[in-house]
Order: sequence, then C-alpha cells, then structure tokens
Amino acid sequence: MTRIIDGNEIADRITADLEPCLETLADAGTTPGLATVLMSDDGASETYVSMKRQACNDLGIESIHHELDPDAPADALFDRIDELNDDPAVHGILVQLPLPDHVDRQAVLERIDPQKDVDGFHPENVGRLVTGTPRFKPCTPHGIQKLLEAEGVETEGADVVVVGRSNIVGKPMANLLVQKSDTGNATVTVCHSRTDDLAAKTRDADVVVAAAGVPELIDGSMLSPGTTVIDVGVNRVDADTEKGYELVGDVEFESAKEKADAITPVPGGVGPLTITMLLYNTIKAASLQAD
Ligand code: GUN
Repeated sequence: MTRIIDGNEIADRITADLEPCLETLADAGTTPGLATVLMSDDGASETYVSMKRQACNDLGIESIHHELDPDAPADALFDRIDELNDDPAVHGILVQLPLPDHVDRQAVLERIDPQKDVDGFHPENVGRLVTGTPRFKPCTPHGIQKLLEAEGVETEGADVVVVGRSNIVGKPMANLLVQKSDTGNATVTVCHSRTDDLAAKTRDADVVVAAAGVPELIDGSMLSPGTTVIDVGVNRVDADTEKGYELVGDVEFESAKEKADAITPVPGGVGPLTITMLLYNTIKAASLQAD
C-alpha cells in the first residue's frame, strides 16, 4: 500500500518541539519577532504570507507585517529592510518572492542582515550551507529533510533526483542531501528544463523531489515501483471551481500513487513543513541574537 505522507501531522510534531525553546527565550525576556514584507498584489503570495503570519501568532512569535506598493521605487524596499535590520525586536526578516520586475531581487536578498535572514537566501548563508556549516537552512528543503527523516526514508547511499534548480528549493535541496550527515550522504542528480530524457533519470531514483514549478510534470510512467515522491509544486491551474482554479503539484498524483512507496499530497504535504521550518529559523535567529 502506498503511504500518503501527512505533512500536517509531521509539522505539528516539530512545532510542538519548538515550544520549550520559546519558553527558554521567554524566561530570558525575549519574544522572537518575524518581519514579513510583501511588495506584490499576487494572490498566492498574499496567501502564503498570511499563512506564515498566522503560524507565528499561533505559536507565540510576534508577527510584524509590512506592505509596499508594487509600483514603489526599489529604494522604498531597501529603506524598509534597513529599518528592520536595525530593529532589535525583529529577529527574522522575510521578503516574500517574487518581487516586481524593477526590483533587483539579488540586491534585496543581500541587503538583509545575514543574522536575520531566516530564508537562508543571503550569499553568506548560502555559502555556509554549501560548506557544511549552515546557519539558516532554507525552509522548504529543510522541511523535506525533516519529512524524509520522520517517514524513515534513508538518504545514505540513496539515489535522489531533484527536479528543478531554483535557489529556493532545487539547489539548496541538492546541497543538503549531499552533505556528510544523518539526513544527507545521498547521491544527487539535479534535473531541469534542459535535461535530456528526464524520465530515464527519475526511473533510476529511490527518491524524487519534484520542484520544477510545472503542473503534473512527473507521472507514474516516469517512476519505478518503490520510489518515495516528494512534490514541492503548488501550481494554480484554471478549473471550474468557486475560486476559478485548483492547486496541482508537479506530480500527477493518481498515476504516481500507483508506483510510489510513499508520496506527498498537494496541498498537505511539503507546504506545512516549509512554514514550520520558518518558525524554527526565527526561534534560532532570536536565540543567536540573545547570546
Ligand atoms: N516565495 C516562494 N517561496 C518562498 C520562500 O520560501 N521564501 C520567500 N521569501 N519567498 C518565497
């Protein structure tokens, strides 16, 4: 029987483990604070940010929210980041991506104080990750590591195929999985839009992490029996529903389920872990800044 991995249940368990850390910080007079910055009218981005804020409020992390007009000059965002960098009540800063075209995304990520970079996207934190001395692990790949661990999926010696090479998921995922560690030691292949014969690669995998942002790119015919399938995709596709769309992963769930040993659903798979690891990083940031 294929296991449908319950991301909410795993996320709830990890979140419960964070409570003692919050109590320790509270005893020392610190309430962790996460600043979210939204410079977009995109409905999906608004939803993601409000879910992150809700999760902070539920756990007892202070959520400080800033919205900027998407047409505002890039300097307005840089100035806001400077203020947040200087604010001692703000331990973590998250600028929701994507940003408007006129804003240089890399310059924004480099403006955030690396000690407050709870996304782990600043080059200093990327460098620390790649060299095996991570400060903040990017939330989605870190969440996937936690999910594999919770499900008892062995990565040591496993052939893992990561489909997608984004800075947010694909690249940090590959980096984490090749590290010498209990949740690494995998042999990793990174595939992308120019990969020749993607199906041949995914059929050889023990674990497939689908993070290409292409609806239902991977179907059951591309998988071998016994594979663990982690679907990172959250794609809105037009549908005759109340909202006018439905959420679809990068994996064609029904056919993949027939082959997989275990598979994450969309929604309810990876997404809850991403939010939980953001809470984890915010608490870590507050602890490091309290030292
Ligand atoms: N947009 C999509 N995923 C992410 C993420 O993990 N962090 C930020 N800041 N923006 C995103």
